[in-house]
Parts: sequence; C-alpha cells; structure tokens
Amino acid sequence: MTADVVPLIPGVPVLDFDSVPMGVDRGRGWAVVREAGPVVKMGDFYYVTRREDVVDALRRPELFSSKKAFDILGSPIPLVPISFDPPDHTRYRKILQPFFSPRTLGAMLPSLQQQIEDLIDDLAAAGECEAVSGIAEPYPSQVFLTLFGLPVADRDRLMVWKDAVIALADSPNLEGVDLTPALELFTYLNETIAARRKDPGEDILSQLITGEEALNDQDAIGLSFLFVLAGLDTVTASIGFALHELARDPELRRSLVADPERIPEFVEEVVRLEPPAPVLPRVTTAEVTIGGVTLPPDTFVRLCLGSANREEGLVATPDDVLLDGVAHRHWGFGGGPHRCLGSHLARMELKLVVTEWLRRVPEFELAPGTEPRIPFPANTFSLQSLPLRYPVTAEEA
Ligand code: HEM
Repeated sequence: MTADVVPLIPGVPVLDFDSVPMGVDRGRGWAVVREAGPVVKMGDFYYVTRREDVVDALRRPELFSSKKAFDILGSPIPLVPISFDPPDHTRYRKILQPFFSPRTLGAMLPSLQQQIEDLIDDLAAAGECEAVSGIAEPYPSQVFLTLFGLPVADRDRLMVWKDAVIALADSPNLEGVDLTPALELFTYLNETIAARRKDPGEDILSQLITGEEALNDQDAIGLSFLFVLAGLDTVTASIGFALHELARDPELRRSLVADPERIPEFVEEVVRLEPPAPVLPRVTTAEVTIGGVTLPPDTFVRLCLGSANREEGLVATPDDVLLDGVAHRHWGFGGGPHRCLGSHLARMELKLVVTEWLRRVPEFELAPGTEPRIPFPANTFSLQSLPLRYPVTAEEA
C-alpha cells in the first residue's frame, strides 16, 4: 500500500515525517504530532495522538483489531498472542501469563546477573565503549537464550537472524528479499522445540510445550518468533535510552548511585518517556469517531503511546525524568488485553543493567561531539549508537 492509495479522510491534517523533529527530541516530536490534531495522517496511517483516545482504543479490541493489523503483514506464522483478538487471544494469555510472572522469572535471576556482570566488566576496563553494540544489543539476546535453555554461544547468530526477520516484517512485499535467515531461525526454533518435547528441561519453553495446556508446535513457533520480534529490540532500545539519560544528567546519575533503591522508579520513567514501541497498529472494524473525525471500517490506525505518555495532566514535568517516589501512570507497555507479556522480564533486565553499570561505572559521559538520535519514522524507536567515555578505576585497570 502507498500513501497515494490510502484516501484522505476529510478533516484530518496531514504531516510529513520530515516536519516532525523526532530524531533528537521526542518531547518536541510528539508535541508537534499531538498539536496537529487528535487524528493525523502520516504516510499510510492514521495516527491517534491523544491519551484519552489511545487508552480507549487499547481497551476496545472489538473495534480496534490487532488481528486485522497483523493479517496484512502476511506473516506465514501467526504471532502468538499479539496477532489474535479476544476470545482466541484470551485463551493464549491465560496459558502464557503464569510463565512471565516475577516469581517464575526470579529463578533465572542469578544467571542473568552473572551475565550482565561479565559483559560490563569487559567494557568498564576499556575506558570507553559504544554502549548499543557493547551491552544493549547482546544482553537481551543472551536473556532470550537463557529463558529457552539454549547456549549463550548462539547469541551472535541469533542477533543476525533477528535483524533479518525484523527487516522482513517491515518490508512491504517479499520480492527480492533473502528468506534464508528467517528459514534458519525457523529451523533453529523448530529443532529446539522437538528436542524439548523429547527431553524437557527447566526452561520456560519446555514448560510451555508440556503439561495440561501445552502449546502445539505451530503456536510454540509463533510465540518464539514473537519473543524474538517483541522482546529483543525493545529492551535494547530501553537500555540505550536509560544509559543516555544517565550520561547526560550527572545529578540524576549520582542520586541513583547513592540510592540504588530508586533504580526501578528510574526504569519506569525511561519506559514512560521513551517507549521503544511507541505506535501500535490496529485496524478499525466499524465506523468510529475520534475527536470529531469519523473513521470508516478498515482504517489503519496507529495508537501513539509515546504521545499519550507525555501529554499534560498526569506528571508535573511530562517531558523530564521525575523521581518523586510516585509511580507515574504510562502506557509504554501498552494497555488493555495486549498489555506487554514481557514487562516483568523487561523491568528485570533494565534494573540489572542500570544497577551493574552504575556500580562499575558511576561516572561517565557522552563522547564529545556526539548527538545520539533515533531514525524516524520507525516501528521501534532506538538510539543507533551511544559512545560513552569514563575513567578506568584501579579495580578495573
Ligand atoms: C522495555 C521493553 C518492552 C517494551 C517497552 C514492550 C512493549 C510492548 C507493548 C507496547 C506491547 C503491546 C503491543 C500491542 O498492544 O499491540 C507489547 C506486547 C508484547 N510484548 Fe512487550 N515490550 C517490552 C519487552 C518485552 C519482552 C522482553 C518480551 C519477551 C518476553 C515481550 C513480549 C511481548 C509479548 C509476547 C507481547 C504480546 C502480548 C499480547 O498480545 O497479549 N515484550 N510489548
């Protein structure tokens, strides 16, 4: 589909992506989008910008369908559970939910702790690093492998497959696209599932495919693919944003070094301010009116979580990290039935990274002359690189 064939709904303002200053400043970027109107057309999609409308749409899957939004992507494997609407979706969530509770995930904590210590030890001794490729990318892939009981040595090939599969999901058609990496990932996951069926372990995958409400092979593959698509780049992005915020705000950094108990609150603020999946796809199933604009059935909308989180009215300083001991409401992990299944895992990873980084590298700064930015438009908002500099302490030297 191209912009030319998506008709303009009367009364809807149109914005060029180029006119939205999102690259270096999401505060300004989202303000421009929100101030343009409650529904704004950019590219092929209608963006729903205001908090009240975004939250309402998240809670009404019968009117804002995820299934229709994912069907158009034409994935040969239905992504479980994100590409289903209730009641099918409800059934999957009931099965999956217990495996992602903080209690269940706690069993992996010692291993994840050790892995982040090892990654940071190497970087701390160098006095400088590019934090996206150094920590933010490798760590979530290691976590995925640990969760599935797979060897951490498979990390680098998982990262290559992941990039290829995401590029595939983003390409409008498969013409000329090399499908080899996606097939390799499919084979890898398929073989893992077969091996776990024969010889189940303690890992989450083994638990999901055995027992009373076991997932069949197709659902297990769909879920595994979704983990790769939803659970790696999102955490990578959040690690990048968290370290960026700390690098440019010495006062904030020192307050967390002095009082690490506040790190979970900081992590939550990072996800509020810089949600890595800030625009969620939905398709309307019937005529619906938003802010005075009537959208016909089958309209492709994007729900702007990034805008909702920064709208006035919930937080005293909506565009800045605010640690005031109060949990600020946000929709960085979505809302309604599709609310992120991996939010506890994501929080655990982010807390581990920030805690261990600050313990070893309490003082650091952005490499001079660098201005981290995100590509825009993009499905995932993420810094492309984050060069950091810091003194090497005697312990690390
Ligand atoms: C900071 C990191 C993360 C953020 C900000 C995030 C954000 C989101 C959001 C906004 C949604 C809702 C999508 C929608 O409604 O269409 C979602 C769904 C989902 N996320 Fe996450 N996510 C993160 C990490 C993870 C991780 C680590 C996993 C892996 C376990 C994961 C697994 C999922 C799954 C399976 C869904 C689909 C849930 C459903 O459809 O019921 N996410 N995530």
